[in-house]
Amino acid sequence: MPLNHGNILHLQKAKVDAMIKLEIEKSPLLVAKKASLFYQELLAQKPNAVLGLATGSTPILLYKELVKLYEKKVIDFSQAICFNLDEYCHIPKEHPQSYNTFMHEQLYHAVNISSKNTFIPKGDEVDLSKECKRYNALLQEHGPIDLQLLGIGRNGHVGFNEPNTELEIGTHVVKLKDETINDNSRFFDTDEEVPKYAISVGMKTILTSKKILLLAVGKEKATIVKELLESRITTNIPASLLHLHSDITLICDEAAASLL
Ligand code: F6R
Repeated sequence: MPLNHGNILHLQKAKVDAMIKLEIEKSPLLVAKKASLFYQELLAQKPNAVLGLATGSTPILLYKELVKLYEKKVIDFSQAICFNLDEYCHIPKEHPQSYNTFMHEQLYHAVNISSKNTFIPKGDEVDLSKECKRYNALLQEHGPIDLQLLGIGRNGHVGFNEPNTELEIGTHVVKLKDETINDNSRFFDTDEEVPKYAISVGMKTILTSKKILLLAVGKEKATIVKELLESRITTNIPASLLHLHSDITLICDEAAASLL
């Protein structure tokens, strides 16, 4: 292709489109408010959108915002389909710290999402490899995900795709890294209780989502946010694969962006 002016503009645009769009907000609350606009816009355009959802501390304020918007009748989840990224293994789904319990407490009980449209891997199944296949098949049937919400682990994990020499493509059982177990221990009474394994969707599910919304809040995320934005693509920072996606927005609060 000859490099005339028009083509150069086209190439420049392709480069810009491929970058992680960064938005910095003053506080975690403003991060949540900005993120909630993505849901307002998407569900207004496509009421039966497929939402990829995350757990952990990061999305809690966003879910509170979504509940408020639902109560004000600004947003309607009646046709939305929700898929969670992951679930701990070997704890019952009714456990207070299961991601199933988290989703019900933070969002599902308070909005009009139909329970037949909410999917979370079942980490308490005896045959976990069968469960991974079942979850993959559901994702195939309903996907691709329209909007995938992500938090980021301090070690760069997304979902529970932990840093490794190789990353999994589809839904899989993962042995959590010590640093992740340590980070998760704040939610459990004793160290013995903290799950060592989880089921997580693979990088393919994340990367084939139409749009990705990555949130990072707090100073403890500042180092990984800097590493992510400055790194090349490496499986040692699974989040770095997000550089391959053409429609990804990272919304940080000032603390998470403090090293940029
Ligand atoms: C949770 C998930 C994890 C978290 C990450 C950050 O469903 O997939 O990747 O997003 O561990 O956790 P918090 O938000 O607690 O810092």
